[in-house]
Amino acid sequence: STPSITVFPTHRVAKINRNIYSGFTEHMGRCIYTGLYDPTNPNKDLVTAEGFRKDVLEALAPLNIPVFRYPGGNFCATYHWQDGIGAVENRPSRPELAWGNVETNHFGTDEFMSWCKAANTQPYLCLNFGTGTLDEAMAWVEYCNGKNDTYYANLRRKHGHEEPYNVKYWALGNEMWGPWQINQMTQEAYAERALQWAKALKLLDPTIDLVLCGKEGATSWDYYTLKHCLQPAGLSDLGEERVPLIDMHSIHLYTASEDHYENVTAPLAAERAIEVCSGLIDLAFVENKLLPTQKRPTICFDEWNVWSPPRAPGSKGAEEQYTLSDALAVAVWLNVLVRKAKDVGMACIAQSVNVLSPLMTTEAGLIRQSTWWPYELFCKFMKGHTVAVHVACDSYQGTTKPDWVRALKETPWLDVSATMDDEGWVSVCVVNMHLEKDLETTFGGVGDGKVTVYTVTGSDQKVTNMAGKEEVGLKESQWDPSKDSKFVFPKCSITMLRWKSS
Ligand code: AHR
Repeated sequence: STPSITVFPTHRVAKINRNIYSGFTEHMGRCIYTGLYDPTNPNKDLVTAEGFRKDVLEALAPLNIPVFRYPGGNFCATYHWQDGIGAVENRPSRPELAWGNVETNHFGTDEFMSWCKAANTQPYLCLNFGTGTLDEAMAWVEYCNGKNDTYYANLRRKHGHEEPYNVKYWALGNEMWGPWQINQMTQEAYAERALQWAKALKLLDPTIDLVLCGKEGATSWDYYTLKHCLQPAGLSDLGEERVPLIDMHSIHLYTASEDHYENVTAPLAAERAIEVCSGLIDLAFVENKLLPTQKRPTICFDEWNVWSPPRAPGSKGAEEQYTLSDALAVAVWLNVLVRKAKDVGMACIAQSVNVLSPLMTTEAGLIRQSTWWPYELFCKFMKGHTVAVHVACDSYQGTTKPDWVRALKETPWLDVSATMDDEGWVSVCVVNMHLEKDLETTFGGVGDGKVTVYTVTGSDQKVTNMAGKEEVGLKESQWDPSKDSKFVFPKCSITMLRWKSS
């Protein structure tokens, strides 16, 4: 039967928190050094006076990325932030155990804050739960946010930064469940430590948002840590302020496969993970008898992307060369985040420059990978509210789906999400996963006006942009639905349709 898509722009499903388009920059491979920060680049025109890559800042600017997570990732587990402040020549070089590098500490807290200012974005810092202490964590919060006449606030002033940075988002460690993590913890040990740190950090600065380290959303770790740490707000001497200790619960997932259909359906596992995790948050509220008036934590999907280390050269399995198939997978990922906007308070693509990234620097310039285009389109256009959309089409029923997705039995060939922004612009993203069929689709709810069409595709699913030629690009065209109410979604493509609602 003919596929059909009907959009209901006035049927709001959820408000979208723009923080779902956040980024992530880790001290990993070429992400910070030669990615964000490249002071020794022989081409002086490519870098700012502070040593930041101008082309990276210029590429990111129109995307208005709201938040960047830093400094890791796994890197955090041995990072002592005080190594990275003060005169650069006095900063110690240290062995870096997560990625096997030497960390020079030439780029640290103050440099990251300056970069965030240049990129017009907010910082999100991840605390060292591996070798770090609570004292160090509190000192970092005081250094960044302290307004009073206290030691670390004064140290920041001494380094030339009179005004506090007001860092709002802080993570209580990263992937502390992972066997690869320095000082890996049991769920019980982590949860108790996170609770005690949260109490101290919120006493120090009740304005910060704390992010609990979850796992993949639907695991015993997620259940246990939420149950242990979601306490009645105002407990633990936080007095009348009724400040909750935990504001978000972080989950991570990477998907990838050499099989196209597995690759593009795998991100749907995230949709299920978000649903289950949201249920676990509710369950913790019920089991701990928390009042419904208490702020309910959202999900912070602070690492998501397509990644398969064995296939990625450079930076120790992290310099992915993304194909057209991967671009479709990233668009499905973003569709999932938009569809689940009610539950997701923040999401960070992992990562933002050079490692697992849509954007690659070379000594001479910049490459926009295939996955850049869906990321750019979503950051620019898919905002405001998620709105209802009805999709009817045949489904992919192959067997090469990952376990989580196989549970869904069928995956419609067209993966869709729709939004309407505050100015009345409706945007619909349609991924046609099919490798052989263009899908002529009856399209309803579009009104009579002109529709702008953005199409991302290429000659086959394996092409990349890494050889210096743009094999996967973005094309803009117009469609007049009053002349033809059917729209053809090309095989193996991403299409964004955009119009002003009447
Ligand atoms: O983003 C790369 C790495 O993947 C992060 O450092 C870690 O948190 C995850 O395992």
